[in-house]
Amino acid sequence: MPTDPLFEPIVFRSLTVKNRIFRSNVSGRFDNYDGSGTQARINWETKFARGGVGAIVSSFVPVTIRGRIMPNYATIDRDERVPFWRALGEAVHAHDCRFILQLSHAGRQRDIPGIEFAEGLSATGKDEPLHGFPCVAMTRAEIDETVQAFAAGARRAREAGLDGVELHAANGYLFTQFLSSAINDRDDDYGGPLAQRARFLLEVVAAIRAEVGRDFHLQVKVSAEDFNDAIVRDEAPGNTLADTVQVCQWLDTAGVDALHVSSGSFFPHPRNPAGEFPVDELIKTYDQLLSSGGLAFRNFLFFRIGLTREIFERRWEAARGPRLEGINLPASQVIRQAVGIPVLCTGGFQTAEIIREAIRQRFCDAVTIARPLIANNDLVHQFAAGLGRPPRPCTYCNRCLVNAVENPLGCYDVSRFPSHQAMVDEIMSVFTPAPFPG
Ligand SMILES: Cc1cc2nc3c(=O)[nH]c(=O)nc-3n(C[C@H](O)[C@H](O)[C@H](O)COP(=O)(O)O)c2cc1C
Ligand code: SF4
Repeated sequence: MPTDPLFEPIVFRSLTVKNRIFRSNVSGRFDNYDGSGTQARINWETKFARGGVGAIVSSFVPVTIRGRIMPNYATIDRDERVPFWRALGEAVHAHDCRFILQLSHAGRQRDIPGIEFAEGLSATGKDEPLHGFPCVAMTRAEIDETVQAFAAGARRAREAGLDGVELHAANGYLFTQFLSSAINDRDDDYGGPLAQRARFLLEVVAAIRAEVGRDFHLQVKVSAEDFNDAIVRDEAPGNTLADTVQVCQWLDTAGVDALHVSSGSFFPHPRNPAGEFPVDELIKTYDQLLSSGGLAFRNFLFFRIGLTREIFERRWEAARGPRLEGINLPASQVIRQAVGIPVLCTGGFQTAEIIREAIRQRFCDAVTIARPLIANNDLVHQFAAGLGRPPRPCTYCNRCLVNAVENPLGCYDVSRFPSHQAMVDEIMSVFTPAPFPG
């Protein structure tokens, strides 16, 4: 009997993972305001480890407080954070699952700024276009400090006994702000031609290698294409697939161990997470953002008025296209052919045969899954038991996404549950075991 590609181990330069299904990054406001982690996050990650994934790629983990998207995400900005990440790693390892921590910096792309810093740091001084947050273009000294913050984050992840780190160089956050021709307007060594826009990312890779050596797993999440004009038509389109292929080749040469392929120069984007834009649900949680940026209140009115809402919804769908499952596979295939390191692909996967074919036909080496695993934590066990697709699949409704700014992360599509109470019970299960039992 030929072995099932889904369950073949994947061997990276310094890490082996037991199967080809990784939990993709999902953030959630599970932690304390100051960035210290909680038992709820450990409970959350353990659900996926128990459910059979080979590895978990973590939530967005800020390397500095100024680099967070919003408060209440666990950070890795200081040595005191190491014991929490060690405890989380041990809980996940108990299920023979690896844990890769996503080292992140939001730059100007934030949702709720904390009280510490008014302005985000960015490659540019232009306001963030979605909510209208102000930012400042980083000075040379701030770039150097941030490079060192990433290196220190990698060292802390290794000290915590985790299995590797991922640089979040996709979806509009700080690295994208440097890489993208549509955003980076600098006239120094970090702007202009692609090689200079990639300088910041490559300096971080070099600093991490200098700090943790060659044998600690390091992967990079990239946006294959920016599609920066997906919603606002007079924006420039940004980086092309050819640009990203070039960046990936430089990353390969610089000693990166794997690539993780996504798309889009902002988040959320019609292609990521690909699905509906649930305006009715968004209106319920948007109050969290209203006072945040210069444009958030305008956006709220747009969503409430029938005509502007319809225009927005139509643009969202048109920019996404019809394909949801495997939306990034064509780009992943091109990148995979151009590099010598394994390629992970994200985007909509929840059908065993589609994943199998993607691996067999070398579109990617493994897949990463976010929403379908939120919907079915035990998806891998279902595949192992011979199910081709879960009986209650993820509907790509994106209600989990828009609830995440206000409510605990979980599946919010009530149509997948026997009752509203059953949905709430499942969402609230992340608080068991409680931090203070009894
Ligand atoms: C609620 C939610 C939170 C997410 N948080 C992150 C994140 O912190 N970092 C990241 O790189 N991607 C994040 N993503 C994107 C996912 O990792 C994934 O790449 C994307 O949703 C496509 O995969 P899927 O179709 O399996 O959900 C998030 C997605 C969702 C739905
Ligand atoms: S709310 Fe549930 S069904 Fe909807 S996209 Fe999220 S996980 Fe999938």
